[in-house]
Amino acid sequence: MIHRRDFLKNSAAALIYSVGQNGLSQPSAPGVAVTFDQSSVILNGRRVLISCGEMHYPRSTRAMWPTLLKRSGALGLNTVATYVFWNFHETSRGIFDFSGERDLGLFLDLCQQHELSVFLRVGPYICAEWNYGGYPPYLRDEPGITIRTMNRPYTARVEEYFRRLAEVVRPRLASNGGPVILVQVENEYGNVAKRYGEDGQEYLRWIVELGRQVGFAGVPTTTCEGGAQGAIETSNGFTISPERIAAVRKSHPGTPLLWTELYPSWYQVWGGSIAPARDPRAIAAAILDFVSRGGSGWNYYPWHGGSNFGRNSMYLQTPTYDFHAPLDEYGNVTESGAFLGRFHAAMQEHSAVLLEGTRTEDAADRQRTVTWQKGLDVLHLIQESYDEHASDREPFRAANVKARLLDGHGNVLFDLDSVHETVKKSFPVSEWKPVKHADGQTPVWQVWDEPLPAHREDKGVLSLEPVEQLSLTKDSTDYCWYSTNLHVDQPGLKEIVIPYGADFFYAYLDGVLVASTKLPLQEDRGAITPDDPAHPRIVANVSEQNKENGYRHSFTLRDLAAGNHRLDLLAVAVGLIKGDWQIASPMNFERKGIWEGVQWNGKPIQNWTMRPGLVGEQRVLAGKTVSWHADSDQKPLRWYKTHIDLPASVLAGPAVFRLDAVGLGKGMIWINGRPIGRHWLIQAASPPDTPSQRYYHVPADWLQVSNEVIILEEQAASPSKVELQVRV
Ligand code: GAL
Repeated sequence: MIHRRDFLKNSAAALIYSVGQNGLSQPSAPGVAVTFDQSSVILNGRRVLISCGEMHYPRSTRAMWPTLLKRSGALGLNTVATYVFWNFHETSRGIFDFSGERDLGLFLDLCQQHELSVFLRVGPYICAEWNYGGYPPYLRDEPGITIRTMNRPYTARVEEYFRRLAEVVRPRLASNGGPVILVQVENEYGNVAKRYGEDGQEYLRWIVELGRQVGFAGVPTTTCEGGAQGAIETSNGFTISPERIAAVRKSHPGTPLLWTELYPSWYQVWGGSIAPARDPRAIAAAILDFVSRGGSGWNYYPWHGGSNFGRNSMYLQTPTYDFHAPLDEYGNVTESGAFLGRFHAAMQEHSAVLLEGTRTEDAADRQRTVTWQKGLDVLHLIQESYDEHASDREPFRAANVKARLLDGHGNVLFDLDSVHETVKKSFPVSEWKPVKHADGQTPVWQVWDEPLPAHREDKGVLSLEPVEQLSLTKDSTDYCWYSTNLHVDQPGLKEIVIPYGADFFYAYLDGVLVASTKLPLQEDRGAITPDDPAHPRIVANVSEQNKENGYRHSFTLRDLAAGNHRLDLLAVAVGLIKGDWQIASPMNFERKGIWEGVQWNGKPIQNWTMRPGLVGEQRVLAGKTVSWHADSDQKPLRWYKTHIDLPASVLAGPAVFRLDAVGLGKGMIWINGRPIGRHWLIQAASPPDTPSQRYYHVPADWLQVSNEVIILEEQAASPSKVELQVRV
């Protein structure tokens, strides 16, 4: 029997680490040898059952990290996994930032102080529903680049990133006395491998080798869902099927079976369905099944999902990344977290027999029994109504996965149903309440109208054809205006067609909003450029198949008087893609705004003026003076501002906060200059009458006694019902 403390004694996690003034860690104890065989990862000669939770440091605030880690340890995790977010650190080409909220070194040190080992997933590609899958947007415009394959302009930038990252990570490897026990390179390359052929395979070998060269070699290298020689290959899924296990055993003999992404539910996109929480019994049963087939480690993806602040989300991803994870978006323990905490305790209690015992199995009449024996220590797992693939088909349901652990005398050690019942009964519920403002008043909103292009001072970029948005904005803003003139000879229905445009458009005619993009937008939109017979497209992923052109926008206009009219199209991006399959092309093909000729009643429109960004982004957000005034009309494209004064007592406690955005349309929200994220009250596909996201996390450490709230609202909507809410 190994207790967490014993495990930690033998792992790097128990070593006390001090952080010097230069921010570099100075390990105060010798390193730990991380080795492995087919049964498990081994730390200084001792086997570990890895009970791990994914937690992304940019999806919470630095002030939240200690609490999140403390709760994770208390719920029986012995390891924390995180991606490293390349674009969060390389803030512009060649400029790296590992300080403040980006202080990865501090996050790793805090893991160690909380006796947690770290599974570090360094990319460079991470997916993760994060803007551009973690790539810095400048990469798109490197001359001659093809992203995610053996291509010199790409690999040169990856090399620099890895070298800079290694300065932070190397002293924090377990082998150097730090907490990092495993390093994953790349991510699910299997999803795109077909597109890149032999060059892609060479790239995978190269990235494993690069990791070694920059100094990650002190601990084992892994890849997930797409193997490379010399690396442990790990698996992702709601469940891991016996077939998948057999395939990994065959392709990677002598390596441990690790489950890198075990999903507690799913992420939320604007206009998509809201996924239900997965029954935690189904999660625990899937882990038991995996361990009963030789699995020796799992990682909840995510354990704490958190929030996508500012413009960090991938295309279409909402700011919430709650995921129904065991720790909720605010960092609080959920009922499912409390249940899993009990489950972890039972698993660690018996980890020696689970990892070192001989395993036999017996299946009959839809009951499967697995027995482990190590000396006198005997453990049985009984799975009832057993059907090998039931939980593959219905991963959210618990009913088909009854399971219990028994000792050699038949005493029940852990029964999923009864522990679940106990936790449910005792789990405290706390409600959200509106925050009482210090002055007892409801907020008064002031407005300032964003000037339309005709009233802007900048002349813009002139061109015969529309110029693609990212080449103008470099992803520094979501917004770009496309302005032109239309000529009408005779009245009647008229149509504007943008054959290739992204993501969302508002059409203003003679200064009046007349139309916007039809919803919903598709997460995987098909090929981003028209087919070119000279370069047949390779379909690398099932998500790329049979997609209609998801970039086409059309607006029908009526009752136009004959003569000339001014057309202003406001293109609004909602995040860069996370992977090839969203555009059926390599990621450097990503585009926003307009990149093919726009049609007016079937004829091309020429002579465009592009104006990137909004004036308010340069003025309101930069704290410059604008003429705020009171106005309760609902007009599109307005900036709103108010102050909320909070009683100091609300801020003193361990409370969490959110903004109820009811009544708003679409745009962005800032509190005290901090970007909460994009808001959009668009309906979810299901359940009915539910916005994709109504409540927005406001980190407690961003609030103070007097708070300034700024909202950019694209649509004719009102902030009058918006309120700050608190939960203690
Ligand atoms: C996986 C990917 C993760 C995340 C997850 C969905 O395929 O590796 O980064 O995107 O899906 O939440």
